[in-house]
Amino acid sequence: MVLSKTASQSDVSVHSTFASRYVRSSLPRFKMGENSIPKEAAFQIINDELMLDGNPRLNLASFVTTWMEPECDKLIMASINKNYVDMDEYPVTTELQNRCVNIIAHLFHAPLGESEAAVGVGTVGSSEAIMLAGLAFKRKWQNKRKAEGKPYDKPNIVTGANVQVCWEKFARYFEVELKEVKLTEGYYVMDPAKAAEMVDENTICVAAILGSTLNGEFEDVKLLNDLLTEKNKQTGWDTPIHVDAASGGFIAPFVFPEIEWDFRLPLVKSINVSGHKYGLVYAGIGWVIWRSKEDLPEELIFHINYLGADQPTFTLNFSKGSSQVIAQYYQLIRLGYEGYRNVMENCIENMTVLKEGLEKTGRFTIVSKDIGVPLVAFSLKDHSLHNEFEISDLLRRFGWIVPAYTMPADAQHVTVLRVVIREDFSRTLAERLVLDIEKVLHELDTLPSKISAKLAIADEAKKDGVEKKTALETQREVTTAWKKFVMDKKKMNGVC
Ligand SMILES: Cc1ncc(COP(=O)(O)O)c(C=O)c1O
Repeated sequence: MVLSKTASQSDVSVHSTFASRYVRSSLPRFKMGENSIPKEAAFQIINDELMLDGNPRLNLASFVTTWMEPECDKLIMASINKNYVDMDEYPVTTELQNRCVNIIAHLFHAPLGESEAAVGVGTVGSSEAIMLAGLAFKRKWQNKRKAEGKPYDKPNIVTGANVQVCWEKFARYFEVELKEVKLTEGYYVMDPAKAAEMVDENTICVAAILGSTLNGEFEDVKLLNDLLTEKNKQTGWDTPIHVDAASGGFIAPFVFPEIEWDFRLPLVKSINVSGHKYGLVYAGIGWVIWRSKEDLPEELIFHINYLGADQPTFTLNFSKGSSQVIAQYYQLIRLGYEGYRNVMENCIENMTVLKEGLEKTGRFTIVSKDIGVPLVAFSLKDHSLHNEFEISDLLRRFGWIVPAYTMPADAQHVTVLRVVIREDFSRTLAERLVLDIEKVLHELDTLPSKISAKLAIADEAKKDGVEKKTALETQREVTTAWKKFVMDKKKMNGVC
């Protein structure tokens, strides 16, 4: 007897992918399925669900690279199966990472002798780089305090309140108190004078940011260096500086070479930079460079025997991919100084087009600076009817992902929209975005205000006995109400 197979049980390759039973029925999402499914079906199911993600090229929230040359994509795919940690097996990859460390150290003016090797390491990103730099400062400070017979159990670090979340992580994970210099309205970076004042004998370092996440502004590292030098002289301490150059480290050397922020300043002992931001590599690579061997305590370094030679390593993880290291090396040799400068200048020109377009609408205050990371951070001048969260929401309809967020403590009543200009954000897109923002403003002008309606209901409920609110209080209330409204609907817009 011939048994006939039903279509749903037969070989998937016979059927249209979308008609196969694997795609027609839903798979268990949070538990492993009992049986295997064909590779075509697995691909299609995942590919289709991913179509609902935003388009990375239109994700203007992120500093992280979303486009690389096809030649580099080939190198990335060719090395996707290489574990970076197998240094004996992949000695060339190790050599390329060492070359990157040296190239970047020279870019940051590390005081290296003619044939002296730079001290640094490739990481997964600036966050890991910052954990390592912070650990080195903590250990160095502890060693000194122990040698002096002084307590070493209350280390602190001084930063601006604008620091990226990775500094809070470092403080919590490695038990260091984070002392934040407060921001004020209109001044969204760390004030070096206030930072120097906050330093005490337990301060392991002051962290300055070259390119604040909130508005791209460069902090004044030179002034900080001068103030701390003076304070160190007076107190006998030797409080050092770390520069978080996650975004600015691959911008300043090419377009603002005259700004002194790096190892040209004697108190700068370590610097981190994200290779995957303006280093122009896809997500997964960062760098930390130390001024000299003395700034990285020996006991934190692990020594690996690499082809009979000593390869010092200092990272938080063990295995990781090699592709990003190789891609970084590709960008450094392919672009050279000229290429990086061209890319950064182009980003700045496109930033200017966007900024001027927004200014022309007459509706926004620009809170980013011309000297800094090429981004435009802007706030509405008038919040009486609508706010930045509504603009962000409506822009999604055009495909744009533009985050809106409130500033940290002491400036939290200020909300901004931020557009990061990356290499692949062309002039056409900049002009197009201005047009779409104008359309959104026009649409909002014709819509009733959700927020004032909400507040009106609340006011109605309270009726008498309510004291008159100032414009600032009303604005804060509008922001809080809207934030709650947005949060109720979804998680906060991510700002990296
Ligand atoms: C100033 C600053 N520091 C650190 C980080 C963390 O960088 P990464 O994403 O490379 O870990 C960011 C991310 O945006 C940043 O802007």
